[in-house]
Amino acid sequence: MLSLLHSMPPSFFNCSAQPASAFAPVTLTNGDVTATMIAYGATMTHLLVKDSDGEKRDVLLGWDDATQYCANAEHTYFGATIGRVANRIAGCAFDLGGKTYKISCNEKDFDTLHGGVVGFDRRVWAAIAQTASSVTWQYTSPDGEMGFPGAVEINVTHSIRADNTWSIEYSATSDAETVLMMTNHAYFNLNANVDNTATVLKHVLALPTTTKALEVTGAPDYHLLPTGKVLTIAPGSFLDFKTKAKEVGHDINSGVVTAQGGYDNAFIFESSETETVEKMPIVAQLSSPLTKIALTMRTDQPSVQIYTGNFLNGTDTTLRLQRKASQSFGSTPQYYHWRGAITLEAQGYPDAVHHSNFPSQVLKPGERYTQSTSYTFSVLK
Ligand code: GLA
Repeated sequence: MLSLLHSMPPSFFNCSAQPASAFAPVTLTNGDVTATMIAYGATMTHLLVKDSDGEKRDVLLGWDDATQYCANAEHTYFGATIGRVANRIAGCAFDLGGKTYKISCNEKDFDTLHGGVVGFDRRVWAAIAQTASSVTWQYTSPDGEMGFPGAVEINVTHSIRADNTWSIEYSATSDAETVLMMTNHAYFNLNANVDNTATVLKHVLALPTTTKALEVTGAPDYHLLPTGKVLTIAPGSFLDFKTKAKEVGHDINSGVVTAQGGYDNAFIFESSETETVEKMPIVAQLSSPLTKIALTMRTDQPSVQIYTGNFLNGTDTTLRLQRKASQSFGSTPQYYHWRGAITLEAQGYPDAVHHSNFPSQVLKPGERYTQSTSYTFSVLK
């Protein structure tokens, strides 16, 4: 399925034409956390945090060979900056200001996923400011790129704070009316494969402010497009992580939105209707009983896309993706496993441009798009 919907022939995009500097590591350190990024996609490639034994463990999926972020045909979006509009836009078109804009289709002709064929994840960002613990990446997306109107200038600052927090601050302006909704597509596995536990099924997840989720189209086509309906999550049901924390695997087999099952859902925070952008509520808590590494997510966004690596396939030799050394156990090659990661993608409501009941993602000239999201790491007692 990953190949059916996401993969493109490697020739569609000229990876060898990318400058070598696009794949050079940029290291950020503070407290107990060391992060590595690359300019290609302003991508977070490694995130080492301390486990309960005081060992530094890499909690992110990715590649050892950074050129694979470009060259690999299975387009996973590992750790990348996503835009112009994260998640899906139905029909690869939208109306704005009385005009219809046709945008790049990359899930056949059904929809635009994560900004289109050459989204922000495939652009080389410029580091315009850097310290030992932070970097600001800049990219100017020209008018008409992937079909979207307006020239948009984006700054994304990634910082590692002394309290072991990975913080992401987005700021963008446009010279014409457009739509913008960004995210980072980190795949977390807090087990860091210390004993080769391949999946995140035993991770414990709490979503303390989530009472709603978006209904999306599922079987038979699995296009994952919002219907416009905002579902109230029944206590104790598959999507309920508010009533009490539970293992990711507890109800995962009830997942129906993809053919592979699992979670690929837009969870909506209770506070989103009243929360102002200055506030940063805790929206997710995730931990691994194995390493005791815990993550606390805060965001000013109204939603999180939680995707459990349903399209990863560690057994099919044509689809499998070799794990980084820092995400492997021992020296024999291992592969990212089905359900081998969980994403926590801060976002607006997916496909808002087609649903007037969803908060608007329109950005006008003179306005500024901002987003603050952070992931704080600690160790369970
Ligand atoms: C998002 C989507 C998933 C999948 C991944 C990338 O999380 O919601 O359906 O496309 O990106 O594989």
